[in-house]
Amino acid sequence: MADEPMLAEQNGAIPVAETARPFYQAVGNEEAVFKAAHRQGLSLLLKGPTGCGKTRFVEAMAHDLGRPLITVACHDDLTTADLVGRYLLRGSETVWVDGPLTRAVREGAICYLDEVVEARQDTTVVLHPLADHRRQLPIERLGVTLDAAPGFGLVVSYNPGYQSVLKDLKDSTRQRMVAIEFGFPATEVEEKIVVYEAGVNPATAAELVRLAHAIRRLETGGLREVASTRVLIAAGRLIVEGLSMREAARAAITGPLTDDGAVGRSLNEMIDVYLPELDGAR
Ligand SMILES: Nc1ncnc2c1ncn2[C@@H]1O[C@H](COP(=O)(O)OP(=O)(O)OP(=O)(O)O)[C@@H](O)[C@H]1O
Ligand SMILES: [Mg+2]
Repeated sequence: MADEPMLAEQNGAIPVAETARPFYQAVGNEEAVFKAAHRQGLSLLLKGPTGCGKTRFVEAMAHDLGRPLITVACHDDLTTADLVGRYLLRGSETVWVDGPLTRAVREGAICYLDEVVEARQDTTVVLHPLADHRRQLPIERLGVTLDAAPGFGLVVSYNPGYQSVLKDLKDSTRQRMVAIEFGFPATEVEEKIVVYEAGVNPATAAELVRLAHAIRRLETGGLREVASTRVLIAAGRLIVEGLSMREAARAAITGPLTDDGAVGRSLNEMIDVYLPELDGAR
């Protein structure tokens, strides 16, 4: 099928052993929960708003556990065959090519289904026997059922703010998964993250985080998502490039957060209140 090359690229396993640990600052006990669940062969549900560190967390955990990480960005056209595999024509031969989920099951990798809410239910049904105590992947087209290799882990993430397909996951399956809820990090932790990721100085990071707190406290509708750690980092990167703090925040925070003129203006007013006019002292 036409989309195969894209999948193959996007789902390439990342070799873990020789790479440095991805920078991840623990926010609570999430690392202990993840590792305990993994040792017990329990699947994980990561819930949290966009840009709060779910993907980075999984990368760090895969590294710590010494498992390859196979990530699948889910979308509504994703089919079971995209996950499990399919027969492809190679020259005059028909060959079976494993999908990312099957590779993870065979290799004992961590399979991370990012934004699993985007996938349709007829696609995610294949996860049920894998997510629970059976840890098996039935491959109908091959007429086999694979037992997951030791070290295999299934991790799915979703944003509970969006419509959730997980409502449609059987309760029996959901209850065999362990959930970790992510929020935004505590002030000092988030400041450290912004300093590390954007390269700004601590004072600048503190001002950006203070602005984010103010935006997160806004009770007005208007915003689908509040300012995430990710947008603060983007603002910090613009500041490092020489933009003023206000310019950087308008471009990296207001713009991505809203298209609504009035909401945008009130965000910009908050930016003017919370950030100095001067360049972020670098
Ligand atoms: N606890 C953290 N430690 C280190 N970096 C973090 C942390 N939280 C957020 N970040 C930073 O924020 C950025 C966004 O995080 P990430 O991509 O993991 O978010 P996400 O929760 O997966 O978002 P989405 O739901 O949109 O996929 C990361 O690139 C990283 O720089
Ligand atoms: Mg992510």
